[in-house]
Amino acid sequence: MNEKEVFAHMGEEGIGRMVHAFYQRVKEDDLIGPMYPEGQWEQSEWRLREFLNFRIGGVPRYIEKRGHPRLKMRHVPFSIGFAERDRWVKLMGEAMDEIELEESVKGQLLPFLATIADNMRNCDESGSGSGGALNFLK
Ligand code: HEM
Repeated sequence: MNEKEVFAHMGEEGIGRMVHAFYQRVKEDDLIGPMYPEGQWEQSEWRLREFLNFRIGGVPRYIEKRGHPRLKMRHVPFSIGFAERDRWVKLMGEAMDEIELEESVKGQLLPFLATIADNMRNCDESGSGSGGALNFLK
């Protein structure tokens, strides 16, 4: 299953539900929750949802409003190490389970997002992360 097929399977509707379930968890999360600007959950949800609609499905709304994603640069203000990466991926996996995303789709999408998450790391200090390898996914 490639990105096109993932998008065909989920549609904007499925991506929206997944991102919503994800932020419900992020909001309550002790490690990464506090990084997000208070009172802007709707905007945060819009940005991730539309980024994914763009990145997976080619829907141009994100680019039209935010310009080139330059995600790495946009994450520089936050200290992201292994622990933060792993938490992000864990919460996203839980969100996928909540919306009952088919295993074959999850098996494609989660590692794809984990690779992006790994690329966001900008500090190597970490207390509790997996210490490097992304094989915690397996
Ligand atoms: C590795 C762990 C990550 C942490 C701790 C993290 C945290 C954050 C924070 C605090 C913000 C700023 C608030 C906001 O604009 O909503 C943000 C923005 C954003 N993040 Fe992440 N993020 C992570 C990984 C990812 C991944 C894997 C993706 C994409 C698959 C992603 C996509 C985005 C997008 C699209 C934005 C908004 C960029 C903009 O238009 O300004 N992030 N992230």
